Amino acid sequence: MKKILVTGSLGQIGSELVMMLRDLYGASNVVASDIRETDSEVVKSGPFEIINVTDAKRLYDVAKENEVDTIIHLAALLSATAEKNPAFAWNLNMGGLVNALEAARELNCKFFTPSSIGAFGPSTPKDNTPQDTIQRPTTMYGVNKVAGELLCDYYYQKFGVDTRGVRFPGLISYVAPPGGGTTDYAVEIYYEAIQKGAYTSYIAQDTYMDMMYMPDALQAIVTLMEADASKLKHRNAFNITAMSFEPEQIAASIRKYIPNFSIVYDVDPVRQQIANSWPNFIDASAAKEEWGFKAEYDLDKMTEDMLAKLRVKLGACVALESNYAIVGS
Ligand SMILES: NC(=O)c1ccc[n+]([C@@H]2O[C@H](COP(=O)([O-])OP(=O)(O)OC[C@H]3O[C@@H](n4cnc5c(N)ncnc54)[C@H](O)[C@@H]3O)[C@@H](O)[C@H]2O)c1
Repeated sequence: MKKILVTGSLGQIGSELVMMLRDLYGASNVVASDIRETDSEVVKSGPFEIINVTDAKRLYDVAKENEVDTIIHLAALLSATAEKNPAFAWNLNMGGLVNALEAARELNCKFFTPSSIGAFGPSTPKDNTPQDTIQRPTTMYGVNKVAGELLCDYYYQKFGVDTRGVRFPGLISYVAPPGGGTTDYAVEIYYEAIQKGAYTSYIAQDTYMDMMYMPDALQAIVTLMEADASKLKHRNAFNITAMSFEPEQIAASIRKYIPNFSIVYDVDPVRQQIANSWPNFIDASAAKEEWGFKAEYDLDKMTEDMLAKLRVKLGACVALESNYAIVGS
């Protein structure tokens, strides 16, 4: 990767990925883009272009003008939002992906796009979910992700485009808010732990899902993109995960730093149904064997870092000390 175009760069992943890529490859070599513009660091610290990924010509033109050799395609509608407007999700998720793959084909670019644990469904084995297994998802997002995995395989086999990708679990981060996924509760809980000392979870107790802290997710993207192509047997849609937990376990982890933290439940049937259709924990051994995937953060290490970073971000230290006992950093 020498010159990289990132779509959907102002989202939860892009906001941090662009900054990491600019550190690694040089600010001018990472062209960020999104359908909207903000005054964020992503826009201010290097080239930024407005691209609506459903506009194939615009996407192609920006990639060509900037002579990029890599496209990282992040623009998509996430699981819970996609379920509210499935036809719109199909057009954005599939239309955007085909347009980005076409630009990569015509301009001979390497290509990365994330799939998700949402590519699995109720008939998938729930525990230690294999890399290659039954994929019959029951959500529009899942349908898009399975089709996207196949499309990326197709562009590699048919046209030789160097497509690569992972199935991300729920990603937890403090820089940009999550974009409407089923696992967003695991981000919100940290904000509300600091702001209110309590959280009402829309996901029920005993619902296990795979999760990962953002630094591990970003490192995974770079490691996979830089991996020796001859070692990759799967190329796209590698299972990766760092941890699996249910709401009581993340609450217990938070209590190590905020002892009075409490959790109650008001389950959202739509998101709970999506969560029920996903695995409890997936097997990441193919990613470990083929390109050396590893995760640095487990639940407690992530909790410590999230709370420390969020306290700074929210400027909540002083207010909190008067309301709750806080231990740790
Ligand atoms: N965040 C997670 O937990 C997670 C987990 C698994 C997979 N993924 C996948 O990673 C990718 C990025 O996810 P994210 O969490 O950063 O999403 P996000 O919702 O936070 O960000 C998506 C970005 O895309 C932009 N966008 C929307 N419509 C667009 C359009 N038509 N053209 C251009 N940009 C548009 C939005 O403005 C937003 O900045 C998606 O493919 C998602 O499915 C994310």
